[in-house]
Order: sequence, then C-alpha cells, then structure tokens
Amino acid sequence: MSLAVPTDVAAPVEASRRRTFAIISHPDAGKTTLTEKFLLYAGAVAEAGAVKARDGRRRATSDWMALEQQRGISITSTVLQFTYRDHVVNLLDTPGHRDFSEDTYRVLAAADAAIMVLDVAKGVEAQTLKLFEVCRARTLPVLTFLNKYDRPGRDPLELLDEIEVRIGLRPTPVTWPVGVAGDFRGVVDRRDGSFVRYQRTARGATAAPEERLDPERAATEEGDVWRQAREAIALLDEVDATLDVASFLAGESSPLFVGSALTNFGVRHLLDAVVDLAPPATPRSDDNGLPRPLDAPFSGFVFKIQANMDPAHRDHVAFVRVCSGRFLRGMTLVHGPTGRPFSTKYAASVFGAERDTIDVAYPGDVVGLVNASGLQIGDTLYDDDPVAFPPIATFAPELFVSARPRDTGRHKQFHRGLTQLEREGVVQVLRDPDGDPVPVLAAVGAMQFEVFAHRLAHEFGAQVDLSPAPYKAARRTDRQTVEHLRQVPGTRVLTRADGSLLALFDSPYRVQRLEQDHPDWHLEPVLGVGVRS
Ligand code: G4P
Repeated sequence: MSLAVPTDVAAPVEASRRRTFAIISHPDAGKTTLTEKFLLYAGAVAEAGAVKARDGRRRATSDWMALEQQRGISITSTVLQFTYRDHVVNLLDTPGHRDFSEDTYRVLAAADAAIMVLDVAKGVEAQTLKLFEVCRARTLPVLTFLNKYDRPGRDPLELLDEIEVRIGLRPTPVTWPVGVAGDFRGVVDRRDGSFVRYQRTARGATAAPEERLDPERAATEEGDVWRQAREAIALLDEVDATLDVASFLAGESSPLFVGSALTNFGVRHLLDAVVDLAPPATPRSDDNGLPRPLDAPFSGFVFKIQANMDPAHRDHVAFVRVCSGRFLRGMTLVHGPTGRPFSTKYAASVFGAERDTIDVAYPGDVVGLVNASGLQIGDTLYDDDPVAFPPIATFAPELFVSARPRDTGRHKQFHRGLTQLEREGVVQVLRDPDGDPVPVLAAVGAMQFEVFAHRLAHEFGAQVDLSPAPYKAARRTDRQTVEHLRQVPGTRVLTRADGSLLALFDSPYRVQRLEQDHPDWHLEPVLGVGVRS
C-alpha cells in the first residue's frame, strides 16, 4: 500500500494536546507509585498495581532485566502514553537507581517538562540535585510534588527553604496540606481557597473520594488543623510564594503540590497541573537555532537506543522524539547524518518489552523504531525538508576503568559487545591511538559499568574484567598539545568514538597547574551538563 504524502496541518493542533514530561526523584521517593496513580486517575487502569504487574512480566522476559531484579532497580527507560482530559500525556520514565547515569540525562533531552518528587521526610537528596542541574541547563519547567505527607515528615515550610537554597528554584505552592503528618485530611487549592477533603481507600487502589468544602465549613469541621493551614498560607502570601506561570516556564519557579501518592491525596491536582500548567510540544530549534515549525514535514531525533530488549528477538530499538509533522508508520524518512533512506515499517510504542504497533504520532510523542541498527543517539530523521537538531549533550566522565576480556578466546564477542554498548551510550569507550589494545571505559555513574559488564556477559557471551584506571579528571585536547602532554607524568591521551582526543589526568590539581602554567595548551573542559558539542 502506498501512503499519501502527509499533510501536516493537524500537527500543531495535536502538539497543543501533548504533554511530554519525565518524573525525576531520588529512589524510593515514590515515582513508581505516582506513575501508577496517574494511570488510575486518567482511567488507563481500573486499579493501581498495573504498572508493577507489567513490570513483573517485563522482568520475566529478559535476562538483562535480571540485573534490575537483583538490585531492585529499574535500568531501562520506558515511555508511557495515556490520555487525560482530552490531552495526550507522554510520561518518559527515567532510570530509578541510586546511581545516576547518562541515560537519565538523555531522557530529559526529549521531555518538555519534569515533575520533581520529593519525600517530605527527606527533602532534597543528592540525586535530585544532579538531575535538577540538567533541568536547569535545559530551562525545563519543573513541577514539584512533596510526597508521603500521610506519614511523619518535615515541616513543609522548611522544605520550601531547602528547595530554594539548595536547588535555586523558587517553590510556589499551589496546594497546601490540611492536617498533620499521620493525620492528613486534604489540600487547600490556593488559587481559589477551596479545600478538598479526601477519604482513604484500601491500599489506595482506587481513587480517593473527594469532598469540596468552603472555608466556613472547613473551619467548623477541621478546627485547629484548618487554622494552622490558613496561617501557613498567610505566610506564603506575605512572601509572595504564589504561582507565577511565566517564571515557571522560564525554569525559575516551581509550582508545588503536596500529597500522598500512596493514598492518592493531591494526585488529581498534580495531574491537572500537567495539563493546565506544563507546556505543550512547541517548535524545536535546529542546530542553527531556527525553530522547526510544528506543521513542517516530519522530523524527530533519537534520544535513546536499546538493544536486546527482548532476547528472543535480539533487536535494537531507537526511541525517537517527534518534533514536527506527522509520523505515519511505513513512511520512508531520511537519516540525517548519512542522507540514506530509513524505513519505518517496524514502528512501535514501547513500554518495557511490551509493544503496540504505532500508526501515527505527532510532536511530543515518542516512537520506538525496531531493528534500527543504523541509528545513533542524537541522530535526526526527517521527511522531505532537511533539518538537523543539535546533538544531545555528552557528559564529563568522572569515573574510569580499564576493560579486558577474561577469556582471550572470546575476543571477537568482547569487541562486538563493546562496539554495540558504546553505540547505545551505556559507557563511553576511550581507545589508545598508539596501540594499547585495552580500552578505558568512562562514565558518569558507577552503575553504568555494572550494566556494561552484565550485558557483555549475558548478551554477547564475553566476561569482562574491569580494573580501576587511575584517572580523576579529563580534558579535550588537540594534536599539538598531545606532544607536550607526552612529557607530563600521570597523564594519558585517548580517543573517543567521535574522533576527539581526551586527555586523562591522575589528579584535578595537576590539570589546574597545567592550565595555569601553559595557557597556550589546548585543555578544554569536557562537555558538562547541558553544554552542546
Ligand atoms: P520509586 O519509584 O521512587 O523508587 O518509589 P516507589 O514508588 O517504589 O515507592 C517507594 C516506597 O515508598 C514504596 O514502599 C511505596 O509504597 C512507598 N510510598 C510511595 N508513595 C508513598 C506515600 O505517599 N506515602 C507512603 N507512606 N509511602 C509511599 P515499599 O514498602 O518499598 O514498597 P511496597 O511494598 O509498598 O510496594
């Protein structure tokens, strides 16, 4: 069947209905529970628990997932699409392990907003800070959810200060809790002063029944806890900590919601905010800084690649964020970097290892292209009118190890796996141009090495020995400087897959000294968060 040339007039309308966001949080803050409750409130599941059930099946189907199971973590990023109030919500899942990895950063490159979930007992934790840096670098609007208010925690006013001081984001509470931790009654919506009182349901499996009370009735029925809530709100009014959409969209303030994902209190307010406050898909700038109009022919970029999601099929899925136009399954696109045609016969929406064929997608949506072995992270795909989107930031590696095959007889498998996992961005692979065959792996988080070793063994049949490499800092350099660096102890120059030269140093102080003593040497900080190559 031949497909008609797409007319993309529908794209801007569909884009305005899209909300594409990621949830960022420290492990255990409640991201999975909140995701389930969004599905519940959107009517996508009748009872909470479905995500875990799907998760369980997914784990059963892949031996790669065995690592997740052992560690009780989620390594893969998945995309969940559901409709709510006539909007299409795309929730991009970020890996939820204690360590951070480059994967999470890349997912944020495909999102238009983020929800930061904080445990009210713990406040801002290290991982949240790091993730938030990425949001700030991308000026990604962030909604904040103070979760677990149903149990003892810290004073929420104190947490507002912490968010402002540690993250540098001005929290503007939209809802405020009524009741003390442990006896949480409901939330006040500061926009109209209404009080929504909830009832708990068994295990929070179904939506919490809500009752809307006017202030007089709330004062009579809730007494002290109502007065306390009013006092806190008066304080917030005084310091003008009030919803400000312009500064939210500029990534400077964060509308804040209080609730409990477990009991569902406050979940609906948050989900409403995704629709009412979070931005729709808007035109993306290309690498000349020019926005690609939403109604231009199809374009999108690859933000994640995952191979062997299903070992029965040994496949390779590229996740593409749609930026303009209409995607129709079967259309032949152009692969930007090579100019070659790319067939999209096997397009899917992917949730874990579960797939549904996708026929049409619009800006903001994510398409999983199966058997996309020619694609790399950051590649642009387009139809008709050429465009290239800027590359996705790579990150300054902080950890380095040397990688040797345990069994030299499996050299071929080792190198095949190394190349594949490098392409997927599991780790960065640094090679010695002068011939030392032992590559150095570089990463942002140690978990990346674990995933690398596990996948190499299970998917490629090659055990690897990783030994710490004595480097603490890296700089990009050039051929001329390499000649000087040869004389410097504790230094080594390796190449990355993109051909760039990377100088590794045994101490950050050595770099500082070299930079001071030799301002003419080319020692450029390796790309950091949000900086584009
Ligand atoms: P994560 O994805 O961010 O890692 O967190 P997850 O949702 O898995 O939640 C971590 C734990 O915190 C779970 O308990 C979950 O039930 C609990 N939790 C999440 N939200 C709330 C909340 O609003 N209030 C309270 N009190 N607990 C919450 P668990 O015991 O580890 O797992 P489970 O046996 O409950 O599944």
